[in-house]
Amino acid sequence: RVLILDFGSQVTQLIARRVRENGVYCEIFPFNVDPDRIRDFGAAGIILSGGPSSVYGEDAPRAPDLVFEMGVPILGICYGSQLLCHQLGGTVEKSDEQEFGRAEIMVKDSCLLFDDLFTRGTVEPVWMSHGDRIAAVPPGFKTVATTPSAPFAAFANEEKRIYGLLFHPEVVHTPRGGQLLRNFTHKVVGLKGDWTMAAYKDQAIAKIREQVGDGKVVCGLSGGVDSSVAAVLIHEAIGDQLTCVFVDHGLLRAGEAEEVDRLFRQHYNIPLITRDASDVFLGELEGVDDPEVKRKTIGRLFIDVFDAEANKIDGARFLAQGTLYPDVIESVSPTGGPSVTIKSHHNVGGLPDYMKLELVEPLRELFKDEVRELGRELGLPETLVGRHPFPGPGLAIRVPGAITREKLDILRKADAIYLDEIRKAGLYDEIWQAFAVLLPVRTVGVMGDARTYDYACALRAVTSSDGMTADYYPFPHDFLGRTATRIINEVRGINRVTYDITSKPPGTIEWE
Ligand code: XMP
Repeated sequence: RVLILDFGSQVTQLIARRVRENGVYCEIFPFNVDPDRIRDFGAAGIILSGGPSSVYGEDAPRAPDLVFEMGVPILGICYGSQLLCHQLGGTVEKSDEQEFGRAEIMVKDSCLLFDDLFTRGTVEPVWMSHGDRIAAVPPGFKTVATTPSAPFAAFANEEKRIYGLLFHPEVVHTPRGGQLLRNFTHKVVGLKGDWTMAAYKDQAIAKIREQVGDGKVVCGLSGGVDSSVAAVLIHEAIGDQLTCVFVDHGLLRAGEAEEVDRLFRQHYNIPLITRDASDVFLGELEGVDDPEVKRKTIGRLFIDVFDAEANKIDGARFLAQGTLYPDVIESVSPTGGPSVTIKSHHNVGGLPDYMKLELVEPLRELFKDEVRELGRELGLPETLVGRHPFPGPGLAIRVPGAITREKLDILRKADAIYLDEIRKAGLYDEIWQAFAVLLPVRTVGVMGDARTYDYACALRAVTSSDGMTADYYPFPHDFLGRTATRIINEVRGINRVTYDITSKPPGTIEWE
């Protein structure tokens, strides 16, 4: 396994993704983590990430000395390379010539990191972003690549197996960066790259058995990928010691509650309690039009209902949650300070401490695409594993303004047609998320010879890699035309369809 020490770069997670894609397990720790945790982790190799600081700045983050004393291979990236240069006796200074973006390195010397990849004289595109300059590498190091403005773009101490890259191998703009990282983990560190989902599954099952013993576990199902994979994995580990609870808040899409029942209770034979609480939710949401009040109301009611159901399970001691790795990485915040709340999230399973249940979180170490992979390994159907994200508050945040059963029914029909057309066009997997929004306006139309005065709806589809930023999906016009015609013809209550072409930022993906 490999340890990544994070110095606050925006792209540290990408290092972890690339390393794992090469079949090597790794974790990210903040640079200021207790050194005992670094020692206990037992890394075979260490990567120092980039970061926004200057090594000579006041309070510049440093790597614990332990990192250099462990005798394991080290790869410093960007700030990490300047840091290891600085801490090992080289010189880093401020430079007038900053390099940001695309650059070309010229390879000057061979080294194990470049093995089978670059030879002397290779000119290779890379992605640079640094303000400082290395003026001298530490004793024992040699320069292996340069750029016109960075005489030490890559440097190495082959005896100690320490390497520094001033550029970012983890981003796609460094085309052969993934192979460079693979050379580090496979050739320099000497790992085999045999960390697979099949192996992970077996380990995770053993870990669940050890943690839970003969105790009982409750798992909240949402119908989404994460909670579904967690439930099936836990069921494989402990069988009927697991009970799933599915709260139907009346804000689901067409057919979802039935599908959860069919898959989990009928197909997997997992004990499942389904609670139709739509009256409770829709009752409390009546007349509520403020998005934050909606979100908070749903979150609060969900906990009440779930808690009541979980309490009926005799002797349950554990609560399973589909928490993912991006939620648990301890972040390094170089700027400090709290960030503004844009939306109060409600997540199925994000339950309060007073429930006094011990958490079982078998997906804590995985990225989303790895969870999908694990789902496939567990035999979950592709329609579930590849499913778009769906927010905890459900359709409530896709009906701006006050919610009524009538509006929800109209929206469900439009949404189902839209997704059906997307699947038929073979576009589902190209899109991060697609859904319809029922607008709180009525507009005038004409159908047959009659006047209509019905709701307008908006269609939304975005591409994204993590939901943090997004772009609208450029559907062909004939797709949009066909879908709009079907919605207007088949859904009573809608007489106008628009397409949302806002990116995020400045928009958000959901409308509320
Ligand atoms: P926004 O609308 O903030 O959404 O751009 C980003 C992603 O998060 C999803 N989302 C939620 N997911 N609980 C969730 O589990 C929530 O309360 C919630 N709100 C938004 C949204 O669907 C998109 O994928």
